[in-house]
Amino acid sequence: MMGGVNIISMEKNMKNTISTLAATALLASTTSVSAADVEVLHWWTSGGEAASVNYLKEKLSGAGVGWTDFAVAGGGGENAMTVLKSRAISGNPPTAAQIKGPSIQEWGDLGFLADIDGVAQANDWDNLLPAVVSDVMKHNGKYVAAPVNVHRVNWMWSNPEVYAYAGATIPTTWDDFMVQAKKLQAAGFVALAHGGQPWQDATVFEAVVLGVGGADYYNKAFVDLDMDALDSATTLKVFETFGNLRQFVDANSPGRDWNVATSMVIEGKAGSQIMGDWAKGEFKVAGKSVGTDYVCTAAPGTSGAHTFNIDSFAFFAQSDAASTEAQNIMAAEILGTDFQTVFNLNKGSIPARLGVSRAEFDTCAHDSMDAFVSASASGSLVPSFAHGMAMSSAVGGAVTDSATNFFNSDQSAADGVAQLVASIKAAM
Ligand code: GAL
Repeated sequence: MMGGVNIISMEKNMKNTISTLAATALLASTTSVSAADVEVLHWWTSGGEAASVNYLKEKLSGAGVGWTDFAVAGGGGENAMTVLKSRAISGNPPTAAQIKGPSIQEWGDLGFLADIDGVAQANDWDNLLPAVVSDVMKHNGKYVAAPVNVHRVNWMWSNPEVYAYAGATIPTTWDDFMVQAKKLQAAGFVALAHGGQPWQDATVFEAVVLGVGGADYYNKAFVDLDMDALDSATTLKVFETFGNLRQFVDANSPGRDWNVATSMVIEGKAGSQIMGDWAKGEFKVAGKSVGTDYVCTAAPGTSGAHTFNIDSFAFFAQSDAASTEAQNIMAAEILGTDFQTVFNLNKGSIPARLGVSRAEFDTCAHDSMDAFVSASASGSLVPSFAHGMAMSSAVGGAVTDSATNFFNSDQSAADGVAQLVASIKAAM
């Protein structure tokens, strides 16, 4: 861990580097094209997400870098990735794009990404970032991406008034979830606020995998892709539990956006939503207070564990010096303590870098910070496969398809397991 003095001097170094880079960018931007603009692809279009991305825009503007927005709506980023591929293949990629996890390696292997190692070394990223974060940001040992946050995915967001009215208590195990959800339904509420989109089905499936099977099983089956762990009695139990949730989702869920599902909890129409902590950004935009208006608890059966989802911007190789400088400024800004604080207060996540004060963050963020550290020590810090942290995009797609096919049909648990195993094998 770093002492306060070191952090202050690092911040100073970073500021100096940023102003040098900004000055260079200004000198270089003498062509008619506004060369110091960055075009940034992302899918942050909900209220909380937009507030977060706007802060990045603001920071860059302060550093003399203009912003061309390349937002592609669609939670989870599937649409954004499709659009990015077609732009990249046609030889016209943006300056930076929200690319995460193993996909960064895929883009790096294809030769698309820029080396931003100079900025990273000048600002000591190897010491500012936990290894679990920095490893993912590098391709062939060089930084090609900058992390903005760490989201915890295994959360449940609940409306305590709804629970109280229904005489129910917020469950901490999946077995109890079924009991409490029945009470919510009997009192006229939607028990599980859910949007029937493949990535949201996969997000709930992932929480069930962790809650039912535990972290060792999660890692063996969904990170190592061990066929014995996948084709097992535990996976059968996972599908049985996941299937039991079908009855608690309302008829209007198909196609519903995740933030609309969050608003069902905010408005007291539904009891709980299983969703990563980007949901907190929506409670914040709605002016709600944690503890009274809403409660964050670990998804059933997962307390102490932490399913991480690290958002990052990968940088695309540029052909002119001014764009490269703008890119470097963006990378340096992203790792600044002020950016990491304000961005994450809006986004619901926690800073990706070390040395950021906890003071302004709320209890959910503190829980996430504590769980990140303790789960890392106990082996229950796991990468989110529903959010592209654990598998190649091909295998991840196969898992999402299996989860969504199962959840939206009357497939038996045994058939769910068989389909999952077969589709993973085919995609490997
Ligand atoms: C995730 C992303 C989050 C959040 C969410 C919903 O994949 O990592 O930052 O935006 O999608 O859009």
